[in-house]
Amino acid sequence: MQFFLDTANIEEIKKYASWGVVDGITTNPSLIAKEGVSLEKRIKEIAEVVDGPISAEVMAVDFKDMVEEGRRNASWHKNVYVKLPMTPDGLRACKILTKEGININVTLVFSLPQAVMAAKAGATLVSPFVGRLDDVSQDGMQLIEDIRIAFDNYAYKTKILAASIRHPLHVVQAMKIGADIATMPAKVFDQLVKHPLTDKGIEIFLADFEKVKNLQ
Ligand code: E4P
Repeated sequence: MQFFLDTANIEEIKKYASWGVVDGITTNPSLIAKEGVSLEKRIKEIAEVVDGPISAEVMAVDFKDMVEEGRRNASWHKNVYVKLPMTPDGLRACKILTKEGININVTLVFSLPQAVMAAKAGATLVSPFVGRLDDVSQDGMQLIEDIRIAFDNYAYKTKILAASIRHPLHVVQAMKIGADIATMPAKVFDQLVKHPLTDKGIEIFLADFEKVKNLQ
């Protein structure tokens, strides 16, 4: 499974990329707004740190502007994946841009039919938002499972990017289901690495090492 970091914060990106575990980056307008920097500048900075897909969302909501903005975003770097919203205009733009060889990540996906529509329009990635479904008492992980089954049944090549991940269990479940990618905030990267028995083990080994370090 590929792990993407869901942030536009360059320091976070540098930190987790140095662990060797970051396969790509997803950004969205809210994450960019927190940084107080232009999308173009930040995407170019990210591309110098991470050699993998970097999602850059369009702000436009109508077809023509989406296509224009999508082409512009894609011109920034070869690793840019243009993020388009799951709307009829987004699908139309997806079809056109895909034909031009631009990778598309269809975002804000909340149902199986939406995911299938994105796949049919040629999306490289589809982003079902697990946490936001959980927030409204729907089982987000069930959606990942349903999409996996449908994509396998019909051999769609579109990759499933489990998004809006809130905790390590989401990642574990997404792995078991066979989602291709999980994108998660920095906090979840920390949680995935941490285990109290690892910390305890180090503590015990250090204490025992102290006892023997001066022995000949
Ligand atoms: C994915 O590409 C989105 O940026 C992200 O996962 C949204 O997560 P949120 O629901 O925590 O905002």
